Amino acid sequence: LTEGQPRLQRQLALLMKQRGIDFKAEEILVTAGSQQAIDLVARAFLNPGDTVAIEAPSYLAAIQVFDLCQFRPLQILSDAHGARVETLPQVGQAMPKLAYLVTNFANPSGATLSLERRVALLKWAAANEVFVLEDDPYGELRYRGAPAPALVTIARDIPGAARWCGYASSLSKIVSPGLRVGWLCLPDAVHDVAARIKQALDLQTSSFVQEIAAEYLESGRLAQRLPVIRATYNEHCDALSDALTGAFGEKLEFNRPDGGMFLWARFAQTPSLDTRKLLELARNRGVIFVPGAAFYPEPLQCNSLRLSFSTATPAELREGAKRLRTAYDELLRLSENRITREPA
Ligand SMILES: Cc1ncc(COP(=O)(O)O)c(C=O)c1O
Repeated sequence: LTEGQPRLQRQLALLMKQRGIDFKAEEILVTAGSQQAIDLVARAFLNPGDTVAIEAPSYLAAIQVFDLCQFRPLQILSDAHGARVETLPQVGQAMPKLAYLVTNFANPSGATLSLERRVALLKWAAANEVFVLEDDPYGELRYRGAPAPALVTIARDIPGAARWCGYASSLSKIVSPGLRVGWLCLPDAVHDVAARIKQALDLQTSSFVQEIAAEYLESGRLAQRLPVIRATYNEHCDALSDALTGAFGEKLEFNRPDGGMFLWARFAQTPSLDTRKLLELARNRGVIFVPGAAFYPEPLQCNSLRLSFSTATPAELREGAKRLRTAYDELLRLSENRITREPA
């Protein structure tokens, strides 16, 4: 079945119910990771040259999907409360065809879209007939605070909004990335188009893998595992945040995320610093990160970086922060030398 193995669809419907999302098992489209979910929605909506509103910074591999569709990016800058949806185009202005957002502990910003902005986004989408894809692989990784409802849940209370939003998620960040199991919850008309596209692409996600995923979810082991993952990431996040504050003080700005795997930081006092250059020096010292420029369709905020704290131990993260500071000092020294050596 292109839509998915019924046994897995039933388990995913239960998982969704725990997230406050009410979709029937047969309405869930199983995908090869949420990466394919993004691709299916992009293929369903986009023609070359169409505009997509994406938060900035945004998930790198989603930008790659939209790039293949030859999209025109409309970057919506984000802050600690997610994308600043009040900057979306207003009635009378050119509208995007699609909006793509990672609403919880976003990759790379770590930010979560506030409830007020979720409501405003849906009202905007319904009024302007723009389809919004909510990508939520990280929502279960919350270690502080209360979750905000998913867009598809809020949309049920906003007239006309349910037709204009969909939800994608994945087992990659909570079970295993190698399984390649994700899923989509879409309005009926979009679901049918996405299922037809998936049929053409790969007929179906491996039924063998889907049965393994279903078996795991039926066993109840995810419920035991999640508190362990959350506690571990929380400890790692605190260790990295404290170590960065200790190493850089106010030179490096960041918001401590309430969940997820990423910390997004900016050398606010040195706007001309390019973290791509910092990476070269940090790598020599055994520290890696993703330079911020990679997360924009057109590079912005090159003084930013994404640090991941999921797999390194607290001791490694503390050591990493110290080495990053040494690399930073080295970069500043090198650029000062270059400036003083340049002819006037
Ligand atoms: C925001 C976001 N969406 C989707 C994905 C793709 O995940 P997968 O295809 O493994 O489910 C990732 C992976 O890093 C991600 O960060």
